Amino acid sequence: MQGFTAQFQKTMTVPALALENITCTFASREDRSQRYTAVANATLRIAPGEFVSVVGPTGCGKSTLLNIGAGLLAPSAGTVSVFGEPLAGLNRRAGYMFQADALMPWKSALDNVMAGLAFRGVAASEARAQAEEWLKRVGLGGFGDRYPHQLSGGMRKRVAMAQTLILDPDIVLMDEPFSALDIQTRQLMENELLGLWAARRKAVLFITHDLDEAIAMSDRVVVLSAGPGTHPIGEFAIDLARPRDVAEVRSHPRFVELHAQIWGVLRDEVLKGYQQQLAGG
Ligand SMILES: Nc1ncnc2c1ncn2[C@@H]1O[C@H](COP(=O)(O)OP(=O)(O)O)[C@@H](O)[C@H]1O
Ligand SMILES: [Mg+2]
Repeated sequence: MQGFTAQFQKTMTVPALALENITCTFASREDRSQRYTAVANATLRIAPGEFVSVVGPTGCGKSTLLNIGAGLLAPSAGTVSVFGEPLAGLNRRAGYMFQADALMPWKSALDNVMAGLAFRGVAASEARAQAEEWLKRVGLGGFGDRYPHQLSGGMRKRVAMAQTLILDPDIVLMDEPFSALDIQTRQLMENELLGLWAARRKAVLFITHDLDEAIAMSDRVVVLSAGPGTHPIGEFAIDLARPRDVAEVRSHPRFVELHAQIWGVLRDEVLKGYQQQLAGG
């Protein structure tokens, strides 16, 4: 019983992903002799099963933080841990979805979805059966033999979602995954993602520059400051009931209230970010 309680407390308190005091410095793109500190002293923790969105102005360092969590980029200072273990190299408990399509154009939708399982050594027949299941789950049953160029933008996103989730990652990292879609398709995909997430709750780190999207999807919204030296400057629990319809929830009075609160923090940063872009920064 003692052991059970200790184990229970451990899973309750150990974040799925913890970025602690992260600083990330690059050689400046304009002048390679200069250093640019994109992220300074940023701490971000995501509990198992929690859906967290990170918002901030364009160029502030959102993708940098996500890439650090993915293990694609090593921070200049600070630590990353995954379920309490320090991260070394790629984060193998995480699946990723990026803004750009990561589908292999020479493979059918089915082959794209099963590729990860095949790579992990799952037998082809088993991988195929699971991939067919996942295509159905994202509404693409019967489209398995289509190639990416034969699919619409929204359908390609569905394939990408199946491709990521079929590996059953404990952590899902998404970097503005729907921002290239038109608003209707985007809302369909957001609802689709929430439905899948509700069925098997994973820790999600969702990057977006769209505050409406962040609030509609998340348990918690973290606001980043404008760069240089970006770090969280605000954190808001989103206490809207689930299940949510991302289009309908926007007219809920509590949504409007949260939006006003968060925008109060985000607005100045967006203005700063915009002025930096005008200045060529
Ligand atoms: N590899 C790199 N080399 C130099 N500068 C970089 C590199 N990656 C990102 N940056 C800079 O760091 C800042 C944050 O970038 P990024 O994380 O992509 O922002 P966001 O995703 O919020 O738009 C930007 O100023 C960008 O130019
Ligand atoms: Mg980015």
